[in-house]
Amino acid sequence: MDSCVILTKIRFYFVYLTMKTNYLILKASALLLLAAATGLRAEEIPLLGNIPGRHTVSLNGEWNYIVDVQEEGYYDYRMNPMRDGFFLNRKPQTPKDLIEYDFDKSDTMPVPSDWNTRDPRLFFYEGTVWFKKDFTCHPAAGRRTLLYFGAVNYEAHVWVNGKKAGHHVGGFTPFNLDVTDLVRDGDNFVVVKVDNKRHPEDVPTQIFDWWNYGGITRDVLLVDVAPVYVENYSLQLDRTDFGLLHFSVRLNAPAAGKKVRVTIPELQVDRTVVTGADGTARMDLKARPELWSPASPKLYAVAIGLDGETVTDQIGFRSITTRGKQILLNGEPIFLKGISIHDEKAFGGGRANSTADAVVRLQWARELGCNFVRLAHYPHNEYMVREAEREGILVWSEIPVYWTIAWTNPATYQNAQDQLRDMIERDINRANVIIWSIANETPHSDERDAFLGSLATYARGRDDSRLISMAMEVTSASNFHNRLNDNMNAFVDVVSFNQYIGWYRDVDDAPRMTWEIPYDKPVIVSEFGGGARAGLHGDKGQRWTEEFQENLYIQNTAMLDKVEGLAGTTPWILKDFRSPRRVLPEIQDYYNRKGLVSDDGQKKKAFMVLKAWYEGK
Ligand code: GCU
Repeated sequence: MDSCVILTKIRFYFVYLTMKTNYLILKASALLLLAAATGLRAEEIPLLGNIPGRHTVSLNGEWNYIVDVQEEGYYDYRMNPMRDGFFLNRKPQTPKDLIEYDFDKSDTMPVPSDWNTRDPRLFFYEGTVWFKKDFTCHPAAGRRTLLYFGAVNYEAHVWVNGKKAGHHVGGFTPFNLDVTDLVRDGDNFVVVKVDNKRHPEDVPTQIFDWWNYGGITRDVLLVDVAPVYVENYSLQLDRTDFGLLHFSVRLNAPAAGKKVRVTIPELQVDRTVVTGADGTARMDLKARPELWSPASPKLYAVAIGLDGETVTDQIGFRSITTRGKQILLNGEPIFLKGISIHDEKAFGGGRANSTADAVVRLQWARELGCNFVRLAHYPHNEYMVREAEREGILVWSEIPVYWTIAWTNPATYQNAQDQLRDMIERDINRANVIIWSIANETPHSDERDAFLGSLATYARGRDDSRLISMAMEVTSASNFHNRLNDNMNAFVDVVSFNQYIGWYRDVDDAPRMTWEIPYDKPVIVSEFGGGARAGLHGDKGQRWTEEFQENLYIQNTAMLDKVEGLAGTTPWILKDFRSPRRVLPEIQDYYNRKGLVSDDGQKKKAFMVLKAWYEGK
């Protein structure tokens, strides 16, 4: 290991340990304060894996909402958090009672959704919106009730029946709260304060090239579980021995001696393992499944049993590794014919959050000839990942460590690591997810290297069955010679970078470009492309015309054929998407126009160029 990597690692351990200590002190005091304030056990608990395989009741539907620009419902006029805020959902008890809000007389919007596309007054809105939902439930004695959110952007405070249930930051990963002590038999209500204001210390930070859709953007579910339940599990094919499966399970409590049964009827697998003192267990299973691949996305019905209760799943088995500059799927080299996608509905903007949304966009990707999608720049909704798995489409999944993050802020690091943990926890058993990406276009520095180095190490510690990568940037380009030089190469399995030759630089120079990527690892060009307004036609030298974009793709694909070790590409981007950074009238109108498909579903000329190129791959 060369001196530079050792130095980077020493620096990273030093910076990391300081951050960690500071953060732990911060966290402890916050939790103490919270518990002291409410006296009830209300907390975010480790993520429940495989929510589709659980006993749930949906709280999706119409929710009342109150737009609260100055957080009148949370702080008093001295900016102190109030005890009788909107979360109490109070009603006047006597004619002289002064209550200046009323959820039941307030507007409603569907959950899941985003307020920006649901209420025209809120198109640009960033701030607090309160949501309230009445629900009925009849918790059985001795059972636990969890409240699960697929995602809330960005910060969520949650109350059940006026009592604090928990708090979460991060807009793209699920979280669940134990509300057993808060729900009652019969009528209940839940209130969520959602705030999507941007701050330097957040993840993502203050600026990003996508719409900051606010709201309860994914499913809300009540989950009924036993006091001791299967929190999560992993069932993976061995990376080289395709007759061996590795199973590990984690219960929600350090319960020893618990029998966990794994059955895969189609593979005649029926084995039981007993948990240790920490409530976890591992076992290897001999089985020779038909391997999952884009050509045959085979999924097996799997059941995980504990104390007479069963969690069901559909799992595929595949191996993903690298050999020199090759990516190997099931031991065979594969070229990843990809496209980048944002988690936005196929038509007209707004957050995507259903299988129907996924089917349309994946249909376009398959028409391009894709076997791979980069879900940028944050974990997409679970329907998208699972639909891609059913359709045989491989996935790159990423956390929003995007551009210039607050590298030395311990809370920022913990937030990023928590999002990484939950991204892995949610999709750990999805065969099509092959790459965890920890960052996009981040500026070089020791602090950045320390931050990202620790994230990469953390991801590898959580899941050693997949590849780690990140979207780097070309570091030097002179005389048409492009070179990649990034310390993070030591931490990733696949070296990926974004380049915009023909758009942000060197228009018409792609044919003269040469590349130097001095790492014996597979290369993915994770972004390239340019903008075009669908239907705008003209000379190929005229920006924003379909001909300009078409020509850019012709030149870029020819250039990429010369990149040694190229194992895949994910051009930017499948569809025009909303961005507050794109303000050019009559062309952008708050859309990034680098899509190959327009926001109303028109395929641009460049779509055909990429399709033809992939046919040749
Ligand atoms: C960047 C970035 C994208 C952005 C794109 C663009 O590379 O990663 O998020 O949308 O460029 O400029 O269009």
